[in-house]
Order: sequence, then C-alpha cells, then structure tokens
Amino acid sequence: METAERTEQLTTRSAFLLKGAAVGAGTIAVGRLLTAPSRAFASGGLTPGDADILRFLAAAETLETDAWQQYNELGGIQDSEVPGGSGSPAYRDALSVLDSDMAQYIHDNTDDEFTHFTFINAYLKSHGAEPVDLDKFRTLPSSKATGAQQIGRLTNLMQLTVDTSWWTRYRSDSKNPDFGDTLPQAVPGLVAGEFPGIPRDDSDLAPSDHLQAIANTAGFHFAFIEQGGTSLYPGLAQRVTHPEVLRILLSIGPTETMHFQTWQDKAGNAPPLTDPTNGLVFPDLNADGELLQTNLIMPEPTIFLSRKFPVCSIIRPTETDGAAMGAVRALTANGLFRGQSDEFFSVLTGLAKAADAARHGT
Ligand SMILES: [Fe+2]
Ligand SMILES: [Fe+2]
Repeated sequence: METAERTEQLTTRSAFLLKGAAVGAGTIAVGRLLTAPSRAFASGGLTPGDADILRFLAAAETLETDAWQQYNELGGIQDSEVPGGSGSPAYRDALSVLDSDMAQYIHDNTDDEFTHFTFINAYLKSHGAEPVDLDKFRTLPSSKATGAQQIGRLTNLMQLTVDTSWWTRYRSDSKNPDFGDTLPQAVPGLVAGEFPGIPRDDSDLAPSDHLQAIANTAGFHFAFIEQGGTSLYPGLAQRVTHPEVLRILLSIGPTETMHFQTWQDKAGNAPPLTDPTNGLVFPDLNADGELLQTNLIMPEPTIFLSRKFPVCSIIRPTETDGAAMGAVRALTANGLFRGQSDEFFSVLTGLAKAADAARHGT
C-alpha cells in the first residue's frame, strides 16, 4: 500500500511537475510574444523587420524594372509580355554584336523584373503590410530616340557612370569586398565620366563606333545592375525572420545571379574601340593576361569569412551590415537617379535604412 501510495504520489507529482513545466514554458512563450516578438509577429505573421526588408526589395525591383523597360523599348523584343516601345533597329544591331540573342535576353530580364516587384508588393499586401509605390517619382525624361515611349521615368540611362570592378572581383583569388578590398576596373573610362547606355536621340545612331560604344556601355551596365541583386539578396536574407520570407529571398536572389552570369559573358564580347565623340575607350580585355581574360566567367574561388579558411567559390560581397544602403549608394553613384528629387532620395534612403535596421527575430 505504502509503495503504491508513494507511486501514485510520485505519479501525481510528476504529472504536476510536467504540467507546471508546460505552463511555465507557455508563460515564457507568452512573455516573449508580449515583449520583442509581439512586434515581431504583428501584421498577420510578417514581422516588421521582414516587411521593411521586403519593402526595400520591392523599391529596388521597381527601379530595376524601370531601367530594364527603357532598354527593352529600344533594344529588346517588342511584344505584349512587357510594356515596349517600337524598337531601335540600329541600336539592336549594335547590341547584337555582343550576342545575337541580346534582344531576347533584354526582353526576358525585363519580364523577370516586373514579376519581382509585383510579387513582393502582392505578398506584402496579403499580410496587411504597406506595399511600395514609386509612381509619383516617374518624372525623368525618356530618350528622344525613335522607338522609345515618351513617358516619365524613375531612372536615367543617359548619363551612366558604370563601375566595372565586378569584372575583376569575380576573377580575383585573393580579394573580396567583404574584407575591405577594392578591385580594379575592367573599363576604367566608364567610371570616369557620364555616358549613355541608350541612344539619347537619333543623332546618337551614328557614327557606328559611337553607337557601338553605347551598346558596349549597356552591356557592362546590364551586368553591373544584376551583380548588385546577386549580392543584395544573400546580404538581406541573413536578417529575415520567417522561413517563408527567407524562401522568397532565396528564390528570387539566384535569378539575379542567372542574369548576371549571362551578362558578364556577353560583356566580354564588347568589341575594343574608342568612341570618336567623347574618347571613351573599351580596351582589349584579353591583352593582359588572366585578370581581365574574357572567358574566365566562372567565379574564381576567393577568401571568405576568414583568411584562416581555404578559398571558396562564392558570391561576393555578402556582408549584411548596411547591405541596403550599400545598394542605394552604388545605384546613385551609377548615375541612375540623376535628376531625381530630394524627396525621392529621402524616400529611398528611408526604405534602405529600415531594411538595414531589421534583424532576424524583429
Ligand atoms: Fe530583380
Ligand atoms: Fe535583376
């Protein structure tokens, strides 16, 4: 009896302890929800930090789309899939020197970008979060070249300052911007002035080396834009909270990488020349050995996380601190927003800072 009683007592006590532990755990869980994560799990399951990251990405994708649409109107395929213009045969021919499928690739990259911002905005809305609408900033002029629509633009493709250091960055086995390294330019002239990536008007369609220089500029600019997305998504993915938001970033990001990989291959086909109107030089990238060699398009393994580890073939940079503001600074330095209002910059900076302030769990 005594033993049985004791067993029952023990059972009861064990049950109580387990129940108490469960209540305790529940209390801790509720306590967490009532402190930091109550903010975290607001908006129908999307954390404020997740919403801030998605909003910045929606803005970046909207801007990307605006640039790609302008390229497509003149250099891409004109069809009902993306808003087109009527095309510029001379510009399209100059682009086709880089690859006979350039018009198709431009069209498809444009199509992809439309889906990126449209999806992210729809996802934000479905979770009761504010989407991003930059329509009021569509104030920049269109190209006057035959083939372009005459509508307000978000981005300026006619005064580009293109950083081409991504070219050497992916060919270096010892440097990585995450370690503070700077890498040399493939086309030093492109970062030292302001050059059109599309014909500004029909006078830009000749002489032929001038038009080819515009097409070459576009070719390097395509890769510049897409390598930005290639780093931005893994940079910001490190800060999201919900697995589904992580899934979104991990599923969109690599499409930017697919674009980048295509474009860096095509940029290597840009013919060496000097623009007779402004002296812009496109050098022979195969003249000086491996650093610029055009067929080295697979990422060279390089330092990652710490020099104590062996080199690794990776996307670079992927540092998460300030990733969104880094993207804004790069796009601004690129000249993409020349002519935009102070309000535009303050809205874009606000979105970027909010994304950079997000942390996993917030
Ligand atoms: Fe995109
Ligand atoms: Fe992109």
